[in-house]
Amino acid sequence: MAGSTFGNIFRCTTWGESHGKAIGVVVDGCPAGLSLEEEKIQIYMDRRKPGQNRFSTQRKESDSIEILSGVFEGKTTGTPISMIVRNEDQHSKDYKDIASYYRPGHADYTFDEKFGFRDYRGGGRSSGRETIGRVAAGAIALEALKELGVQVTAYTSQIGNVKVDRVKVDRHNIMKSPIYMPDLEASQRAMEAIDFARKECDSLGGMVDCVVTGLPAGVGEPVFDKLDARLAQAVMSIGAVKGVSIGAGFTVCSSKGSDNNDEFTGDDPHENKRGMVNYFFDEDGNLISNIKSTNNAGGILGGISDSDPILLSAAFKPTPSISKQQRTISISGKGMDISIQGRHDPVIAPRAVVVVESMVALTLFDLLLTSMTSRMDAVVDFFR
Ligand SMILES: Cc1cc2nc3c(=O)[nH]c(=O)nc-3n(C[C@H](O)[C@H](O)[C@H](O)COP(=O)(O)O)c2cc1C
Repeated sequence: MAGSTFGNIFRCTTWGESHGKAIGVVVDGCPAGLSLEEEKIQIYMDRRKPGQNRFSTQRKESDSIEILSGVFEGKTTGTPISMIVRNEDQHSKDYKDIASYYRPGHADYTFDEKFGFRDYRGGGRSSGRETIGRVAAGAIALEALKELGVQVTAYTSQIGNVKVDRVKVDRHNIMKSPIYMPDLEASQRAMEAIDFARKECDSLGGMVDCVVTGLPAGVGEPVFDKLDARLAQAVMSIGAVKGVSIGAGFTVCSSKGSDNNDEFTGDDPHENKRGMVNYFFDEDGNLISNIKSTNNAGGILGGISDSDPILLSAAFKPTPSISKQQRTISISGKGMDISIQGRHDPVIAPRAVVVVESMVALTLFDLLLTSMTSRMDAVVDFFR
């Protein structure tokens, strides 16, 4: 099956199925000398781990990461880094019936049409558990970005109809909310909405916002490898993502040029607001800019970073597995009623926060490395 590898220079290949023996990733192209330990990566894995509270699936997994190669005496060696998480709590029998019918909103039908065969246990390769490999690789990219002063921060910005008030979005509150919603009053209302949906045997959709600060100008390639295009592909490849926007996003279509253009102010980009990143939005709820009067562009012009904060938003559909009765067809095409059992996330967005952060980091670090070849003087400096 093609399509399991992401990146050009910093490349990762995820492998494994939800109910197989293990799941993992191979990262190739990581520069040597980056400090890396299992404990560091585990912090990111724990943010994705299931069964932590009533707002995620009750599957109990330790999701303990093991580094098999590419790290020696706490530092990357420049060779492929292979990482594995062993699956521990599969209830494959919960999924036996699924072999005989197609679940609405899942990849069952399309996998069968494409491959003529599918691992029906928990969705196999299309399961949310595939994102374990992305988070392990993303943890390495995030650690590398930290060394460059680039910070990537994602959080839940909406669940159902409950949205955060951007003025109240304080980075320090993200981990105080069980659903990673940094406006704590909105977080409370969102948790009530999830409880209500669950009582109705239903699920909810949500939005994850991701803000990048400290990225220098010049990252991203003209034409096909534009920074925004690569970010959209990276985040859209996460299961259940149905929309990605940058900066002012879909509101631009009803805006005027005079409102949407971000006027340059002539401020020194180095004497900037990067240090003030606990709040990403100003007192009117607009994305902060260092060099422009506004930041509707979301830090990207012509597919290249302009040194301003980047805002990416990802829309997640409601969890497709619901115990509410639904109509579908068997694999032989016969109509039937189903009610999906097993353990599922009542809402996907909060569990995907660290996955979005990881995919953004993988994209940025890969494009940062690519940017090292943009200028002859930089190439000469490197080899001199
Ligand atoms: C972190 C994460 C967790 C997920 N958990 C579940 C889940 O518990 N139950 C479920 O039905 N779908 C879950 N999904 C979504 C399905 O994997 C996804 O909707 C399905 O494979 C169909 O793909 P599509 O929505 O991209 O078309 C999860 C996705 C992610 C990224």
